[in-house]
Amino acid sequence: SLLVSHNTKAPKSSQRSYSYMPPHASYKVAVLGAGGGIGQPLSLLIKMSPLVSALNLYDIANVKGVAADLSHCNTPSVVVDFTGAAQLADCLKGVDVVVIPAGVPRKPGMTRDDLFNINAGIVKNLVEAVADNCPEAFVHIISNPVNSTVPIAAEVLKRKGVYNPKKLFGVTTLDVVRANTFVADKKNLKLIDVDVPVIGGHAGITILPLLSKTKPEVSFSEKEVHELTVRIQNAGTEVVEAKAGAGSATLSMAYAAARFVESSLRALDGDSDVYECAYVQSDLTELPFFASRVKLGRNGVEAVISNEIEGLSEYEEKALEALKEELKASIDKGVAFVNKQT
Ligand code: NAD
Ligand code: LMR
Repeated sequence: SLLVSHNTKAPKSSQRSYSYMPPHASYKVAVLGAGGGIGQPLSLLIKMSPLVSALNLYDIANVKGVAADLSHCNTPSVVVDFTGAAQLADCLKGVDVVVIPAGVPRKPGMTRDDLFNINAGIVKNLVEAVADNCPEAFVHIISNPVNSTVPIAAEVLKRKGVYNPKKLFGVTTLDVVRANTFVADKKNLKLIDVDVPVIGGHAGITILPLLSKTKPEVSFSEKEVHELTVRIQNAGTEVVEAKAGAGSATLSMAYAAARFVESSLRALDGDSDVYECAYVQSDLTELPFFASRVKLGRNGVEAVISNEIEGLSEYEEKALEALKEELKASIDKGVAFVNKQT
């Protein structure tokens, strides 16, 4: 794998050996919003994957050049461009994984929820096409506000009669990537070893890193816990402010999304030791959607890992209670958006 610097194995100290052989596989991946800030570098990273045989790139504009450019890389996948709604169905036919980074990004001063009015409709339309053309595919939602766009996607799929909760994911990998980076930095740990689960959702206080569950085991002062938690929760805003009007995280997001795509493809390919945090339908809490570590398999979410939200620190316990109201409101808002339309 080209994306080697992460650990997606079981969160156990002693890992059993397993017989998964590196692949020469041939999966078909579509990126919707492929001409954008995330879409372009994400498509490049997917183009580098030995697991991919076909890479379909869709956008409402500017995707022809991106596809022509990428198609010159001498890696196995064939890149095809699709522009505009009339070509969306063809883009999606036979696809195994659909990644959706289509939509507008934040500018300084905005919350992710401020993107709802534009992105909700974009995600709804795209997922309708997914339902019609590749209902069996894994669907990775990147478009914000993820806390609402995933419930929107679920409602759309339900209405079309093809909802499979095991195959719908809100991509929260960037929160884990950031948590791992910041913790390794603060504690002088070897980055490749660090694994911090992040649960809840993907906005502000709904992002809850479980620092007490960090692997390898490490102790934090109360001050460190608070500072790290707040930095992880505000990391998106940190990038939005640094970019000063030119958008939000694109490169680190592309890296994180490529990791999640690769984990999904490995799971599809039969690797039985693939774990990622993601925002999925869940019965871990009273909320219908919740991010946590999940085990991925051929059919999508094979198990939601529940033991990680047991035995939380007092700080985490409080933060978990505190995030529920906002996360519930975001979920309800997404569901209502689809149901108010006839
Ligand atoms: P961008 O504006 O650079 O790119 C978005 C792309 O979507 C553009 O190419 C645009 O043409 C395309 N698009 C718009 N409407 C479309 C439609 N109906 N069909 C297909 N494509 C369409 O934005 P970006 O920086 O790439 O961010 C995209 C989204 O990802 C934003 O909503 C952002 O908030 C979100 N995001 C999520 C995470 C996460 O962790 N989940 C991280 C970063 C950004
Ligand atoms: C992020 O976490 O970087 C993304 O959700 C983009 C944003 O608006 O912060």
